[in-house]
Amino acid sequence: MTILVVGATGATGRLLVKQLLDEGHSVKAVVRSKEKLSELEETYPRLIQIKGTVLAMSDVELADILEDCDSVCSCLGHNLSFKGMYGKPRRLVRDSLMKLCSAIEANRPENPVKFILMNTNGNTNRDLEEHYALKERFILKLLEILLPPHTDNIEAAEYLRTQIGNQHPNIEWVAVRPDSLIDEETVTPYTLEPSPVRGVIFDSGKTSRINIANFMARLCYDPGLFEQWKGQMPVIYNAE
Ligand SMILES: NC(=O)c1ccc[n+]([C@@H]2O[C@H](COP(=O)([O-])OP(=O)(O)OC[C@H]3O[C@@H](n4cnc5c(N)ncnc54)[C@H](OP(=O)(O)O)[C@@H]3O)[C@@H](O)[C@H]2O)c1
Repeated sequence: MTILVVGATGATGRLLVKQLLDEGHSVKAVVRSKEKLSELEETYPRLIQIKGTVLAMSDVELADILEDCDSVCSCLGHNLSFKGMYGKPRRLVRDSLMKLCSAIEANRPENPVKFILMNTNGNTNRDLEEHYALKERFILKLLEILLPPHTDNIEAAEYLRTQIGNQHPNIEWVAVRPDSLIDEETVTPYTLEPSPVRGVIFDSGKTSRINIANFMARLCYDPGLFEQWKGQMPVIYNAE
């Protein structure tokens, strides 16, 4: 299989790229700098780095990159600097996703392309009755006002949920919602839930980036797992 990964140079993205390559798949990565993945590129000839950003690419360029891709994974996120959070592009994740979706549509693939988005459990799945505690709702609303990247993540998942939906002929999707992110060396047991089963701010759990990468990779190459979660926003927790 060939998988396009955007945000591939990030803390989660690079773990995802490695796991896909280790499973024998081909990976295309749109990157701002080729240096961060240069070691992987030397070891794995099936990794192709394409220098640029989705937002700066033309529709034709993107359609060409996506031509042979079975899946697209987005681990894009704003850099945690003042410029990254409050500068342009304000809607990096949503606008990149929208451009990728329209390039997929333009290609009219024979089989639907899987779109797997790394999202946040600070976002609710409005298809389900998800009731967050009042004080958590208050803080999340405040984050929406104060933190443009949070709104970006919400709007990206909302685009998939409301504009792509569950009957799209060319695109099927999953938006993965991690809990508090931590870094670990190896994949460990994890649990998947349709909605949060604990608080998202108070009493939150932990999710390692390597476990998110593992789940996203498996969604690409395990059709049964994808079928189980398609059109949903699973929450992933490290097992305790
Ligand atoms: N608990 C939660 O729910 C939670 C917590 C934290 C994060 N998240 C979400 O998870 C996602 C990924 O997290 P992470 O920690 O793996 O992110 P990360 O390490 O910050 O990686 C971000 C990726 O996005 C790329 N990027 C940043 N700004 C860009 C721009 N203007 N144009 C093109 N590419 C750009 C970075 O490229 P460079 O390497 O070139 O900078 C990098 O590849 C984010 O959407 C984040 O909001 C969720």
